[in-house]
Amino acid sequence: MPPDATLPPTLAEMAVDVLSCADPRDKTARSRRHAARWFAARAAGAPLVVGSAAPPEFPARPERPELKDPRDVPRRRPGSPEGRIALLHAVAHIELNAVDLHWDIIARFTHIPMPPGFYDDWVKAADEESKHFNLIADLLAEQGSHYGALPAHAGMWRAATDTAEDFMGRLAVVPMVLEARGLDVTPGMIEIFRKAGLPNAVEALEVIYGEEVGHVAYGSKWFHFMCGRENLDPKEVFHTLVRRYFHGALKPPFNDEKRAEAGLPPDFYWPLAEETPNRADNKKFP
Ligand SMILES: [Fe+2]
Ligand SMILES: [Fe+2]
Repeated sequence: MPPDATLPPTLAEMAVDVLSCADPRDKTARSRRHAARWFAARAAGAPLVVGSAAPPEFPARPERPELKDPRDVPRRRPGSPEGRIALLHAVAHIELNAVDLHWDIIARFTHIPMPPGFYDDWVKAADEESKHFNLIADLLAEQGSHYGALPAHAGMWRAATDTAEDFMGRLAVVPMVLEARGLDVTPGMIEIFRKAGLPNAVEALEVIYGEEVGHVAYGSKWFHFMCGRENLDPKEVFHTLVRRYFHGALKPPFNDEKRAEAGLPPDFYWPLAEETPNRADNKKFP
């Protein structure tokens, strides 16, 4: 097949194409299309073309949801139908953010030479986050709602801006803190939907739960790879970088079993649990 001239020619440009797309369904469709194309090329033994591109400081997003300080996002009881919609809406927002975070790590750090497997892992993670967003958006539609119907957390991109210059900081904070947190809270969420008798939601969240273990594992794998390359002690570096760049608290209870499965041992996160974080200036998503 001749190459399609309308498609971005390099992986970095594919990433910027996704990051520059504001419509969520269009963003996830592009993300999945680019991932399929990447893996088809890899399977065919085509040369690896990561290239370089200039990712935007903030990814394009739709006009809705309105982005608010989390303290101003109304809380609803998770046992009520409105509460379950609010919960799904919050998950959709996290998944969409994750799509952008994974393409951003691909495009932003191309000056750091990495083995092909690094790109395979993050393209796969970005593809899975796109599927996750679509699954949750479908569930919202089933419940008579949609992504954008409620306000959403304004500070989600902060982890990206804080670590825009620090590749290892990005690996420490995004997959190994934020996505690991997902492993802690998802079983409780699955229970809420199981009790409510919503098997489609249970099924979707179980898919997400299974695949998120992989994303944390990619983080741990490449963080350890970088530490090994620089002859650094991974645990010490992890603690330093999380203290420097993460402005929330690491809150127990932790899902020690799934974290272990993802290559995140207890001595990485327990020493950081319940430390008083620096949250003085809460930079906003514009
Ligand atoms: Fe996800
Ligand atoms: Fe993820």
